[in-house]
Amino acid sequence: RKDVGILAMDIYFPPTCVQQTDMCNGYLYLLQEALEAYDGASKGKYTIGLGQDCMAFCTELEDVISMSLTVVTSLLEKYQIDPKKIGRLEVGSETVIDKSKSIKTWLMQIFEEYGNTDVEGVDSTNACYGGTAALFNCVNWVESSSWDGRYGLVVCTDSAVYAEGPARPTGGAAAMAMLIGPNAPISFESKFRGTYMTHVYDFYKPNLASEYPVVDGKLSQTCYLMALDSCYKRFCSKYEKFEGKEFSIFDADYFVFHSPYNKLVQKSFARLYFNDFLRNPSSVEKDAREKLEPFSTLTGDESYQSRELEKTSQQVAKHLYDKKVQPSTLLPKQIGNMYTASIYAAFASVLHNKHSTLGGQRIVMFSYGSGLSSTMFSLKLQDGQHPFSLSNIATVLNVSEKLEARHVGFDAGLMPLVPKLEAVLPLKRVAFLPEKFIETLKLMEHRYGAKDFVTGKVTSLLSPGTFYLTKVDSMYRRHYAKK
Ligand code: ACO
Repeated sequence: RKDVGILAMDIYFPPTCVQQTDMCNGYLYLLQEALEAYDGASKGKYTIGLGQDCMAFCTELEDVISMSLTVVTSLLEKYQIDPKKIGRLEVGSETVIDKSKSIKTWLMQIFEEYGNTDVEGVDSTNACYGGTAALFNCVNWVESSSWDGRYGLVVCTDSAVYAEGPARPTGGAAAMAMLIGPNAPISFESKFRGTYMTHVYDFYKPNLASEYPVVDGKLSQTCYLMALDSCYKRFCSKYEKFEGKEFSIFDADYFVFHSPYNKLVQKSFARLYFNDFLRNPSSVEKDAREKLEPFSTLTGDESYQSRELEKTSQQVAKHLYDKKVQPSTLLPKQIGNMYTASIYAAFASVLHNKHSTLGGQRIVMFSYGSGLSSTMFSLKLQDGQHPFSLSNIATVLNVSEKLEARHVGFDAGLMPLVPKLEAVLPLKRVAFLPEKFIETLKLMEHRYGAKDFVTGKVTSLLSPGTFYLTKVDSMYRRHYAKK
């Protein structure tokens, strides 16, 4: 089978028409600057320090199941895919709603309606890596002898929420769907994969009564960078083995990272540059070589702790970051950490920004899930044929319109920020004040694992076609409706 990979994609993130009066509904955005002020964090910490602009979150009407119902239905409709033609459906998620029943089984409703119950696959879970595991499962299936000629479908769906504290501004939420098959415009260069997996307690969810993770933030940052180094080394050595030449960052047009917050992405790319310098100093530019030279004798551990190295490598790699990474940062900066969907939303940002020039190009992807599991892999792009073309995928993703449609209302207290915000954010109005966000999280804490409740009836914020939770009955069964 030739060029197995991604044929089509769609993303779901929140609706339009947020009104000041019913801000508790739908999916709303928290302006990072407003949250800084509310948390008493120093000005600029979330926006410049973490590099984030906005954060989406689910209210009581939406969850990972409703978001995945919405995005799968939308993908099938927009690319006119007959639900009977799906032979495997894999879901990646780390948001636990049920400890036994997979999210995939909820999605089966869509297929049962068309008489298709012959669909393999269940859920994959390991922090933010589950989506990549799901994607590999589908790609491997299409490449295998058990493939029956139908499409695979991958769904990444998560709602990232944190307890009060420094991790709270790094939440987010979204669902992505990807159709998998041969002759794809986005194909896998499967032989170059580099994986690194170990046992570590950097971020985990041991408290089954709470949606919040236990996080060792600093450790998670170091683990992420160590995993990146290891995966990159393995990726490079596989490339060298199969291609007979050395790999450096100049051999890929774009780098797409799992994006918990943008600052870590900036550090990650700088780290790849430093790796290239260590492996072969002549592969980096001369002035950069001189600046990095003092760090060449650091041990691995020292290099993760060195602030000087971090700053210097970011500075010398900046012009390449702007070219090779910046196009991937739009959605993660605007939505926040989408856990399993984060890396694929970053990839969707590249398609959105660059779809007309991607033919023949290579994109390197780095997927990280705490605990930890990580893989670096690469994709080769070609323009493709309608409806499975890069330009049609960009049209369906409809990123600008979806971002601009985030109709949000300014609170009077934020008025002085308006001109500044309009310059940097594709937002019409700001929807949600920190107080409301905290209130919503409190309600969700109460609802997590609860039964016998109905949700609010006001769905005016949801756009037509959006699925939402209506009630959880006395047997904990969840009921959804479609707007
Ligand atoms: N203006 C500009 N920059 C500022 C300001 C300010 N006023 N205040 C702080 N900063 C900078 C800091 O210098 C730092 O940047 P640097 O790393 O380049 O020096 C950055 O803002 C963050 O500040 P810290 O003090 O390091 O932040 P803190 O420790 O409070 O929290 C953290 C950050 C650890 C990332 C926390 O948000 C967290 O735990 N998040 C969840 C874990 C996570 O996402 N880990 C990543 C991989 S695992 C995963 O995907 C879940």
